[in-house]
Amino acid sequence: MAFPGTGKIWMNGKLVDWKDATIHVASHVVHYGSAVFEGARCYATPKGSACFRLDAHMRRLQQSSKIYRMDYPLDLDGWMGAVLDTIRANAMKACYIRPLVYRGYETLGVNPFPNPVDAAIMLWEWGTYLGGDALEKGVDVKVSSWSRMAPNTLPAMAKSSANYANSALIKMEAITDGYTEGIALDVFGNVSEGSGQNIFIVRDGVLLTPPIASSILGGITRDSIATLARDLGFVVSEVNIPREALYIADEVFVVGTAAEVTPIRSIDKIQIGNGRRGPITEALQRAFFDVINGDVPDTHGWLTYVYPEEAALRVASHQRPATVHAR
Ligand SMILES: Cc1ncc(COP(=O)(O)O)c(C=O)c1O
Repeated sequence: MAFPGTGKIWMNGKLVDWKDATIHVASHVVHYGSAVFEGARCYATPKGSACFRLDAHMRRLQQSSKIYRMDYPLDLDGWMGAVLDTIRANAMKACYIRPLVYRGYETLGVNPFPNPVDAAIMLWEWGTYLGGDALEKGVDVKVSSWSRMAPNTLPAMAKSSANYANSALIKMEAITDGYTEGIALDVFGNVSEGSGQNIFIVRDGVLLTPPIASSILGGITRDSIATLARDLGFVVSEVNIPREALYIADEVFVVGTAAEVTPIRSIDKIQIGNGRRGPITEALQRAFFDVINGDVPDTHGWLTYVYPEEAALRVASHQRPATVHAR
């Protein structure tokens, strides 16, 4: 994934050229990681470009900002409008969306308060995060030697840049050891999450996922998959998961905006299930992609269409069979 280096970036309400979207090296965020951000996606559905759960993402951005006492003068509608305007200004059909709220340039010192709270929204094209075959074949992961943050240290519920120093340690260790991704435990030794994904295990037909208190980010894909699983009649339970439960699970998969729904085929070189994508993982992938492709009615109201002029497509699409996207 290389940046295009072109297009417009939203900075404090102004659209600036990609190359001009710079900040000073003395900005507080550069030194102290004082930023919170979001990662959302806009999909090119047959009925027009649509952002997936944009409201939930922007709400989480506001909550992350609140935890870090970073007031920014936009309400939820303002944030959603800013994202949609930026997509339209770039004429993007499908993209990854990265809003960022950060402590800017005024003075350096641990106290962030003297610095302005600035914001930016950038977009780029981002394909399959964990590799081309990952969605079908699954990936090999390891349990990281790094734990997630202990409670009451760095708040895991805030999607803050500082937390990604921990994610980077997990990811670097995994790559260096020849794995695609690392799964971290919490400080009590229970399963927490991947460096940038939540995790589900399937055991005897029941879906289990670690609770918020296991130092996870409250993932929007996690919530979506749990909802779709319940729609399909599965029991989904948020429970503490001991490490060894990973190895004996029937299926394991990770979920996130970037990784979408990615099966895990081995953990610490122990094969999971039959070493391929399991049937429940596949059913949930299909349910998820059906929604984001606009192939089934959006019963949960998860899609925000970007271009008003594409509304005609949605009317017309009622008269023809849905298109299935190959993924
Ligand atoms: C640490 C971490 N956990 C979980 C997730 C999944 O969250 P979401 O589904 O909201 O993208 C992410 C993705 O941003 C993440 O970085």
